[in-house]
Amino acid sequence: MKIGVFDSGMGGLSVANAVRNAFPADEVLFVNDSEHMPYGLKTPEQLLKLSLPLLSKMQADGCQVIVIACNTLTTTVISELRNKLSVPLVAVEPMVKPAATITQSKTIAVCATPATLQSKRYSQLKRDYAQGVCVLEPDCSNWAEMIEKNQIDSQQIADTVNSVISAGADVIVLGCTHYHWIEEDIKKLAGDKAVVLQPEKAIIDRLARTIEQLV
Ligand code: DGL
Repeated sequence: MKIGVFDSGMGGLSVANAVRNAFPADEVLFVNDSEHMPYGLKTPEQLLKLSLPLLSKMQADGCQVIVIACNTLTTTVISELRNKLSVPLVAVEPMVKPAATITQSKTIAVCATPATLQSKRYSQLKRDYAQGVCVLEPDCSNWAEMIEKNQIDSQQIADTVNSVISAGADVIVLGCTHYHWIEEDIKKLAGDKAVVLQPEKAIIDRLARTIEQLV
């Protein structure tokens, strides 16, 4: 089985590593578009134009399933991508539902790119699953780029985490795969005040089910 993993940049690499660990016998092709990242500051039209040729090439190169390891792409253009490609796409989106289910304080924080936070899909997730829950959306607009360039501003991250915890959040959702690289820092900052959620396990489970249907 040839499994593709796609993202704008380094975020997808954390997911590709998780996929490689979970499926050691399979070939994993990781492709990114670092030249055009950050995706989180682009429009849906731009995102489709940039990602479709790269995903079509992955399909042509024999990927039998592709993980869209990018919340930004999933929440903005996943339907268009599914319409244009014949390969199954495993998508990732902010874990609003699990966060809303486990919060005790009825306050959650979703850290994600501006494009994700502005997307219709994300609004729908909140409407469907987070009625009666206060959803904080701290400004993380420069996080993906600082992680991509390995120029992490620890103070900014600490200020963001501390502010959402002070505002009562007991769950912090990592709604951008780039943030997986700073998961441990965020967990340390959150301590026992907030649970940090990221979707790698859910992606692996979904991928396993998709592969089962293919073989
Ligand atoms: N890693 C991507 C995501 O999950 C996007 C980062 C970016 O290029 O802005 O949303």
